[in-house]
Amino acid sequence: MKRIEPPTEPARHLSTSHRVLKVLAPYRERVALATVLTVVASLLTLPVPLLVQGLVDRVVTAGRWSALPGYTIGLFAVFAAQSGLALATTWVIGGVGQGVVRDLRHQLYDRLQRLDLAYYDKTPTGAIISRLMDDVGALQTLVTSQTVTILTDIGSTLAISALLLTRSGRLALVVLAFVPLYALNFRFFLRKIRANSATVRAKMDVLFGHLKEKLDGTLVIKALAREPAEVDDFAAQLADAHVFRVRDNELSAAFSNLSAVISGIGTAAVFAAGAFEVLGGRMTPGGVVSTAALAALLFGPVARLADLAYVFEQAAASVDRLGEILDLEPDVTGPADPARIGKSRGLVEFDRVGFGYQAGQPVVWDVRLRVEPGMKVALVGPTGCGKSTLVNLLMRFYDPTWGEIRLDGVPIRRLALADLRHQIGVVMQEPVLFHQTLADNIRYGDPGASDAQVEAAARAALVHNFATALPEGYATVIGEGGHPLSQGERQRLAIARAFCKGPALVVLDEATSSLDTASEALIQAALTNLLRGRTAFIIAHRLATVVHSDLIVVVDGGLVVQRGTHAQLLAQPDGLYRRLCERQFGDPSPSARGRRVAV
Ligand SMILES: Nc1ncnc2c1ncn2[C@@H]1O[C@H](COP(=O)(O)OP(=O)(O)OP(=O)(O)O)[C@@H](O)[C@H]1O
Ligand SMILES: [Mg+2]
Repeated sequence: MKRIEPPTEPARHLSTSHRVLKVLAPYRERVALATVLTVVASLLTLPVPLLVQGLVDRVVTAGRWSALPGYTIGLFAVFAAQSGLALATTWVIGGVGQGVVRDLRHQLYDRLQRLDLAYYDKTPTGAIISRLMDDVGALQTLVTSQTVTILTDIGSTLAISALLLTRSGRLALVVLAFVPLYALNFRFFLRKIRANSATVRAKMDVLFGHLKEKLDGTLVIKALAREPAEVDDFAAQLADAHVFRVRDNELSAAFSNLSAVISGIGTAAVFAAGAFEVLGGRMTPGGVVSTAALAALLFGPVARLADLAYVFEQAAASVDRLGEILDLEPDVTGPADPARIGKSRGLVEFDRVGFGYQAGQPVVWDVRLRVEPGMKVALVGPTGCGKSTLVNLLMRFYDPTWGEIRLDGVPIRRLALADLRHQIGVVMQEPVLFHQTLADNIRYGDPGASDAQVEAAARAALVHNFATALPEGYATVIGEGGHPLSQGERQRLAIARAFCKGPALVVLDEATSSLDTASEALIQAALTNLLRGRTAFIIAHRLATVVHSDLIVVVDGGLVVQRGTHAQLLAQPDGLYRRLCERQFGDPSPSARGRRVAV
């Protein structure tokens, strides 16, 4: 197994604490209030040793029982006030912890929505979910449990050290000699904690990823009767993560208990040294007891500071992982000062466009294409030749590596992203529907669309009939993945959605591939109406759907190899188009076109 070695440069720490401070910034008043409350609570610990000393020297040793109630009530009052303050602090800071979690998730989601598709190509969904849920949660622990006490603990440490020095220099030195041991203890665990936390988080990525993938693939799991194997597989993944989670607990317990041992030995050493002082006549027994109590009070905040450092180290892995997302800037962005074209006429130009998803591996080359307003352009070619890629570039899901694409003569890079995408109605290869009503799915691209507009789009895309046949009609809530609709119904719904917003440009990427011949014929008729006056890019393997296009562009290996109308292309005997037609229609003559063969 690959060990994840933590980076060692101190700069990372600065940025980690900087990030923690940044997420706390909106809550500074509440953090300040919590800090004041804890300062008061910790100042209240100072009278305790004095009261204890009085109790021993003035009540027990001197036998003055009349003073007992005063000291007892004093001690009780101090402890009661401390508990009250602790409760108030928890309330104040508890809200901050939840607030930080909410803010962070909000910020992360906002960033995720703006990131490019390229980010999603290379990031498993599970890793994103793991960050949004698990890492944010880890940060909450840091904020709620420890951050406010840091100033108080530093203050208490200094105040108690000063008080100790005024009481007995020698005993104070004995106490303070133990403080560096906490630092040594922390140093010993530092690297182990960091490495283990990073591993735990990485394992959670894998686990969430696994869960997402397998739950999405339930149908295949059931179809292949792999349920028991999947359960075993998940158990193995859990066990894998479990080992590191347990190690996290073990490390934490070992660290805390070593701190406790240091405190215990320190207190014992103070008593031993105190006994010498009493025997030497330099201190009263009460003085020794109160110094030991002070020492215990000192060890408390020092141990807590060490614990904070520990929790901080644990959370650092999460903070860095969240930072990875929060610091990402999308490559595809709109310009600061975008050009405005209003409603597009639908003139599209590809000017020597080249692009590859990975650097050095071009997928489309030198594509030149001028599409006049209102033209219907078909993109055809073998699978993987780059048809969807061209559409991705037009939508600016990715930016071309070479050349540029223009809409109405304006480079699309000069347009605001939302402006560009509002102009285009797109039906993708895989229809994606959301868990909301059928009507809301249709008006997703234009939330202001009226019911009448929704129905018009639905009628045009042949959704109306099956929508009204559903028990709740347009109010039917569509389940995850499009349940209860059939594949063809989903595709028609996606078509209705694309047209509902009245786009100037339409992209249909295999939009009718799941329809039977009868429905496809109906849809084709509807599309003829819908596409009137709009520029359209139609990608289809079934060539029958594109034979009437104004222009057919044949793509092969990322290159435009042929262009022209169906008749022109058929006339080229050695052309790819003719070969594709022959494969599909057998005989490419129009009369024989009814006999379709899937490619
Ligand atoms: N997100 C991506 N990351 C990396 N490579 C990709 C990505 N999408 C597509 N490709 C690659 O780019 C090439 C062109 O893919 P594209 O999806 O444009 O083909 P297509 O012509 O639409 O094929 P099909 O007809 O099967 O839909 C393919 O070799 C594919 O493997
Ligand atoms: Mg495709």
